[in-house]
Amino acid sequence: MKQAITLAIGGLLVAGGLNAQSKLPVYQNPAQPLEERVEDALSRMTLHEKIGVIHAQSKFSSPGVARLGIPEVWCTDGPHGIRPDVLWDEWEQAGCTNDSCTAFPALSALASTWNIELAHQYGVSIGEEARYRNKSVLLGPGCNILRNPLNGRSFEYLGEDPYLSGQMVTQYILGVQEQGVAACVKHYALNNNEVNRYTSNAICDERTLREIYLPAFEAAVKEGKAMSIMGGYNLFRGQHACHNDYLMNKILKGEWGFDGTVISDWGGTQSTVEAIHNSLDMEFGTWTDGLTMNKTNAYDNYFMAKPYEELILAGKESTEQLDDKVRRVLRMIFRTSMNPNRPWGSMGSEAHIALARQVGAESIVLLQNKAVRGKGQKKAAPLLPLNLASTKRILVVGENAIKMMTVGGGSSSLKARHEVLPLDGLKTRLAGTGVEVAYARGYVGDVGGEYNGVSTGQSLKDDRSPAELIAEAVREAKLADLVIFIGGLNKADHQDAEGTDRQQYGLPYGQDDVIEALVAANPRLVVVNISGNPVQMPWLKKVPCVLQDWYLGSEAGNSLADVLTGDVNPSGRLAMTYYADLTQSPLYGDESRYPGLKRSDKNEWDITYSEGLYVGYRHIDRQKLTPAFPFGHGLSYTTFKLADAKVVTENGLPVVTCTLTNTGKIAGAQVVQLYVNDVEASVDRPVKELKAFAKVMLQPGESREVKLSLNERALSFFDVESMQWKAEPGKFLFHVGFSSADIKATLPWTL
Ligand code: BGC
Repeated sequence: MKQAITLAIGGLLVAGGLNAQSKLPVYQNPAQPLEERVEDALSRMTLHEKIGVIHAQSKFSSPGVARLGIPEVWCTDGPHGIRPDVLWDEWEQAGCTNDSCTAFPALSALASTWNIELAHQYGVSIGEEARYRNKSVLLGPGCNILRNPLNGRSFEYLGEDPYLSGQMVTQYILGVQEQGVAACVKHYALNNNEVNRYTSNAICDERTLREIYLPAFEAAVKEGKAMSIMGGYNLFRGQHACHNDYLMNKILKGEWGFDGTVISDWGGTQSTVEAIHNSLDMEFGTWTDGLTMNKTNAYDNYFMAKPYEELILAGKESTEQLDDKVRRVLRMIFRTSMNPNRPWGSMGSEAHIALARQVGAESIVLLQNKAVRGKGQKKAAPLLPLNLASTKRILVVGENAIKMMTVGGGSSSLKARHEVLPLDGLKTRLAGTGVEVAYARGYVGDVGGEYNGVSTGQSLKDDRSPAELIAEAVREAKLADLVIFIGGLNKADHQDAEGTDRQQYGLPYGQDDVIEALVAANPRLVVVNISGNPVQMPWLKKVPCVLQDWYLGSEAGNSLADVLTGDVNPSGRLAMTYYADLTQSPLYGDESRYPGLKRSDKNEWDITYSEGLYVGYRHIDRQKLTPAFPFGHGLSYTTFKLADAKVVTENGLPVVTCTLTNTGKIAGAQVVQLYVNDVEASVDRPVKELKAFAKVMLQPGESREVKLSLNERALSFFDVESMQWKAEPGKFLFHVGFSSADIKATLPWTL
C-alpha cells in the first residue's frame, strides 16, 4: 500500500512537471534543445535589451533581461577561491558577512601536483563554492605560460609547459562546470608580464604561438569545453587581445569552434568597432570613473553600450554581430543559472578543507634532502622527514612562518574563513610529541596585510634592525636540534603580485644573509621557500634540505606540517625550471624580449618573443645549461626504480610502457614523465618536449606497469606553410624519466 501511494505521488509529480514545462515559453523550457531556446529568447529581445546583456551593470555583474525572467550574470574571481563581494560600483568591500571562502592552493601549486584527478576535484570544489554564492562565472583558471620568472602573476598560472598546463586546466574546467558554473579561462593570450600590462604588445612568430602559448587555451576550449574565456590586457601583433581579429575571430571562434562567451578583462576593452567585429561578447570593468563622473550611469558609456546602440540606430552597424554576441551570452546563462539541474553547491565544507590540505601537501616539492649528522649521531641522515624521536627542540625562523598570505596579490586576494599559518600547523602537529618549537623572526619583509579593504588583522611590525634579528636567530639556532627557515616571497607588490613584476630573482629583505648565518650556526637547516615563481638560491651547496612550498591558502600550515613530519610523502614535481641565476633565463640581457622596447609613435612596448620555442627546460636543454633544479624535479622519502622501458606501435602510433617499482620502505608516488624528441625533422625541434606523464602511487616493494600513449599531435610540430600540425616520418627518441634532466631510458622509434 505504502509503495502504491509513493508511486502515485511520483507519477503525479512527473505529469505535473511535464504539464508545467509544456506551458513554458521555449526559452525557459529546459526540455527544449539549447539552440532553440537561444533563438526563442533572442527573438523576444529589443535592441536595447540586447545591448544591455553584453556589458556590465556593476563591477562584477551584467544585467539579464528582467522583463523575460532571464537572470543577471554574476562573475567572481578566481582562480583559487571565491572573491569577497565589493560594492556595486566601487572596488571597496561590500562588507558582507557571508562571503568568506575556502582559500585553495594557488594554481602554481596545483600544477606541481601533476595529478589530474586532483585538478578535477579542485575544479569541483571551487565550482561548488561559486555555485553556493550564486556566481555563474568563475574568473579562472589562468593558463598563461611561465615565460619569465619575474612575472608577478606566475602564481596564478600552471607553469612553463604547454602540455602539463593543458592537462591540468582541462580537468579544473570540467570540475567547475559540472556545478553549473562557467569557467572563464584567462588571460587569452600572451599575457606574460605585469609591467606595462595594458600597453605591452606581444610579437610572436606563428609556430611559437601555436606550440607554446596556445595549447593550454586550445585544450581548455576543445577538451575542457570552457563556457567562457577572458581576453588579456596586452596587445598581440599591434591589436588589443580582447578584440584581436587573429586570436578571437580566426583561431578561437574559427579554428577551435568556440561556442562560448568572450569576456573582456576588467578594463581591457579599447574600441567599439573592434569589439563589434572581433568577437568580444561581454565588456567589463572599463575605466569609467563610476558614478562620480556625474553621469547617471557610467556603464551606459561603455564601448559596447550606447556607442554601439547608436551605431546600429544610425544604420552604421548591423545587428548581425550583436545577435551573435547575445546568443553566446544566452547560451552561457542557459548552461548555468537557467539550468534547473545544476547542483546547489556548498562552502567551507569539510571536503573542501580536506581537499585544500591534500592539494597543498601534494604540491610541495622536496628539492634537496642531503644527509647531515646530528649532535651525538654516528651516521648522517637526511633531515626530512623530521625524526621526532631524536629531536627535542626545533627553531622556526622567518616571516612567512607567521604571515597570512591569502590576502594580497591582486584580484585573486581572498577573505578566507580560516588560514593555518606554517608555524601554527607545525606546533599543532607536534603538540604532545615532546618536541618543542621555538620561533625567531629573522627578517622583516612586508608588514602590510590588506587588499581592497580586506585586512588580515595581523600586526607584523618589528622595529629591530636586520643585525639584531639575525643575532637573535643565530643565538636560538645554536640551541636547537634543527632549524627550519620559512621565507620566500609574499604577494606584496613586486613579490608575486598582480600589476607589478618582481625586480630581482633573488630573495628580498636580506633573506640570503639570514640563511647564510643560520647554516653557519647550525648545519641542520631546512629552508622552506614559499613563492609562486622560482627564486635564486645562492646558498644551495651549504643548505642540506630545501622544500619548495607555494601559496597554499586556508590549510597552508597543515599541508606543510604533513610533509615536514612525513605524514605525507612528498610527491610534488616542479612545473617550472629553477634557473641557477637569471643569466640562464632565455630573456636575460635582451630588452626587446623583456620588458620590451618602447615605440616612439605610441605608448606601447613591443615585446619580441624571439627566443621562440625555447622557454624553460626547452632553453636549458638547447643551451646545455645546468639549472638549480630542472623542470619535473622533485624528491620523495622513498626511492623508485624504472625498468623494462619499451615502445610498441599500436594503430601506427607509439605506446611506451615501463615498470615502476617502489624500492624504499614507505608508500609514495612518482611521476613518470615522457619527453619526445623528433630527431629527423625538417624544422628545428626542441631536444625534449613533455607529451605524456602518469602519477603512480606505490606501496613499499610494489611494482606497476605504466603505459603512456602518444597521439599524432604529440609527435607534431606546427607547420607554418600549411598552417597544420604535422607529424613527419622519420626517427624519434622517447625519453622516459623522473624529470627533464633525470632520464632513465631513451627509446628510438620510427614513424
Ligand atoms: C584581472 C583579472 C580579474 C579581473 C577582475 C583584472 O584586473 O586581470 O584576472 O579577473 O581584474 O577582478
